[in-house]
Amino acid sequence: MGFVATMGAFHEGHRSLMRRANDERDVTVVSIFVNPLQFGDARDLETYPRDEEADLAAAEREGVDVVFAPSVDEMYPGGEPEVTVDPGPLGDRFEGASRPGHFRGVATVVAKLFDIVGPSTAYFGEKDAQQLAVVRRMVGDLSLPVDVRCVPVVRQTDGLALSSRNRLLSPEEREAATCLFLALSEAAELARAGERDAGKLVAAMAREIGATARARIDYVAVVDEDTFEELPAIAGPARALVSARFGRVRLIDTLLLPTG
Ligand code: PAJ
Repeated sequence: MGFVATMGAFHEGHRSLMRRANDERDVTVVSIFVNPLQFGDARDLETYPRDEEADLAAAEREGVDVVFAPSVDEMYPGGEPEVTVDPGPLGDRFEGASRPGHFRGVATVVAKLFDIVGPSTAYFGEKDAQQLAVVRRMVGDLSLPVDVRCVPVVRQTDGLALSSRNRLLSPEEREAATCLFLALSEAAELARAGERDAGKLVAAMAREIGATARARIDYVAVVDEDTFEELPAIAGPARALVSARFGRVRLIDTLLLPTG
C-alpha cells in the first residue's frame, strides 16, 4: 500500500505524489486532514484553503483507491493529545523556529496516520524538505515499518513551487513570489560554478529576495541535507532553503544544490 498524507486543496504537487504511489504500489490511500496540532496561528488554520468535493473528484481521477478524511474529533477523540512525538533538534530550526510546535504537530499526526492506515510506503514532497527529514528521522528513531520516499518539487512555468497557499496571494504578490525560485536558482548557479562558501550563496539569495517589493525575508540558509544544520562551506549534499512573506502569506521553497 502506498500512502499520501495531505491537508487537501489539491494541486499538481499532491497529484504527482498520488501518481507515484499508484505507479509503485497496488493500493493507494490518500488522507485529507487539516491538522490543528501543527498550526500555531489560529488565523492560519482558519484561512487554510479547503475544498473536499473537488479533492474527492481529483483523487478519483488519479485512480486513488481510498480517501481517508477524518474529522478533528475522530483524530483527537480525547481533545488535544498529551502524549506527542518530539521531533528533536531538527524540529526547532527554520520552519520549526518560524512556527514553534509545528513539527511536533506534524510528527504526531503522521505517526497516527501511519498507525491507522498501515502503509508499506509513504510519499512526501521535497517541497517540504524539512518535514520530510523529520518524518525520516522519526521513522528511523521509532522503528516505524514504513518506507519513506521523496517526490520532487512541482513548479509552475515561472518556477513558483505549487502550494495550497498560493491561492491566497493577490496578483501582485503572486508575481513577487517568483523571487524565491530566482534566489534558489542563483545559489545553484554559484554552486555549479564551484563556489563552496555557503555564506556567499546565502548573501546572493538574500539580495534577490530583499530587492523584491512585497517580499519580506523570513529565513535564507544553506543546510546539510540530512541534519538541516547550517553549513559554513559546502562539502557534501547541501540544500538551499528560502522562506518569505508576501502580505499575510508565508511561502517556502528549496533546492538541492549541485556539487559543482
Ligand atoms: P500538504 O501541505 O497538503 O502537503 C501534502 C504533501 O504534498 C506533502 O508531502 C508536501 O511536501 C507535498 N507537496 C506540497 N506541495 C508540493 C509541490 N509543489 N511539489 C511536490 N510535492 C508537494 O504537508 C502537509 O500537507 C502536512 O504537513 C501533512 C504531512 C499532511 C501532515 O499534516
